[in-house]
Amino acid sequence: MLDLTPDPASLDAGETASADELAALQLERMRWSLRHAYENVPHHRRAFDRAGVAPDDLRELADLRHFPFTTKDDLRENYPYGMLAVPQEQVRRLHASSGTTGQPTVVGYTAGDIDVWADLVARSIRAAGGRPGDKVHNAYGYGLFTGGLGAHYGAERLGCTVIPVSGGQTERQVRLISDFRPDVIMVTPSYMLALLDEFERQGLDPRESSLKVGIFGAEPWTEDMRHEVERRTDMHAVDIYGLSEVMGPGVASECVETKDGLHVWEDHFFPEIVDPQTGEVLPDGERGELVFTTLTRQALPVVRYRTRDLTRLLPGTARSVRRIEKISGRSDDMIILRGVNVFPTQVEELLLRVEGLSPHYQLVLSRPQRLDEMTVRVEARPDVAAEQRATLSSRLCALVKENVGVSVACDVVEPGTLARSQGKAVRVLDLRQR
Ligand code: DLL
Repeated sequence: MLDLTPDPASLDAGETASADELAALQLERMRWSLRHAYENVPHHRRAFDRAGVAPDDLRELADLRHFPFTTKDDLRENYPYGMLAVPQEQVRRLHASSGTTGQPTVVGYTAGDIDVWADLVARSIRAAGGRPGDKVHNAYGYGLFTGGLGAHYGAERLGCTVIPVSGGQTERQVRLISDFRPDVIMVTPSYMLALLDEFERQGLDPRESSLKVGIFGAEPWTEDMRHEVERRTDMHAVDIYGLSEVMGPGVASECVETKDGLHVWEDHFFPEIVDPQTGEVLPDGERGELVFTTLTRQALPVVRYRTRDLTRLLPGTARSVRRIEKISGRSDDMIILRGVNVFPTQVEELLLRVEGLSPHYQLVLSRPQRLDEMTVRVEARPDVAAEQRATLSSRLCALVKENVGVSVACDVVEPGTLARSQGKAVRVLDLRQR
């Protein structure tokens, strides 16, 4: 694979700031953001008053822990416009995250917010190995989801040629990649797998494609998935993270030269890790729930937003800002199976270690009698004979038992049986309530 380490001279000040410079900038911006939220959003004013804090109580960054959290429910309860801190006429764009239950959450952007977002996605694409002049195949969905337009504006800002394909029409995606010869693809990792299968179905070798970098995010994926994609494509597979409530893609991004977790663009978002149960702030290095305070958002500032994403904060490497470890899952995706906590990513990691199993899988939860059971449904690779499947299944069951500590059933199914995602994959099928 190509060495795509960027020229240090091309980096933004926010990527290389010293700890002191960064802290000074963050303190100044955080004071502005807390005041902005307090003065313009009734919800934040009430929450601050209830907690007995005022924006001026923030004298140093560590004082942030005294401020109240914002949750997804707060956004839902203020649906659609209650969390806006600017008059609606100043809002240039709305996005919304669907949410499987209840109201969607609505997010607004001023022209300034869209500008910062484009800068940060441009920074993220460059960190991943994209360069001005590159062609970017954008298969994130366009629409209310932030992936499509977020990636689009960022790629244009970096000086790339965007191919705005959006999600779906898998056959056509592969044809466009063959014909338009993009350098970079931006897509969810699960949809990338569907594209790879389609390449092979059309008799094309993905390693011969023009792609040199894949920028994958919007859902959890593992280190083993990275190796799988890199082995099949000969491109760099790099992680990008974000969420609509905080901005969209580009809140944190991996650097291609290290691929060691995602650098948080801390000049615009202040991260904390808290204990998911108690809400207490944990020191860097400890695992917990990621919380963000926006430092520059105008239309929709959030104070200590509870992402539900589980990770830990680590020191900077390829950039001076801190990293988050690859997200292991969301606290609400955690399956508690007979008292044992299981994340889909743990199963993904194990099944990719069994030669003959493909990365297409789904976890099915059922309650045949009184106890919960989980079946890992996973497709065999196309070259696996039907009679080998039972062996693969017992191998996977044993690995899960050994590593996760819980007995599961494994059902190795024929290639092409499981539904393919065109965006975020649905990893858990819960049949327990029915
Ligand atoms: O998924 C924004 C995005 C688009 C990020 C494209 C990256 C690429 P939402 O739909 O609001 O926004 O979903 C946000 O998705 O809280 C995480 O649980 C999950 N997520 C996003 N990126 C990653 C990632 C977009 N790299 C929610 N790894 C977040 C793991 C991710 N989970």
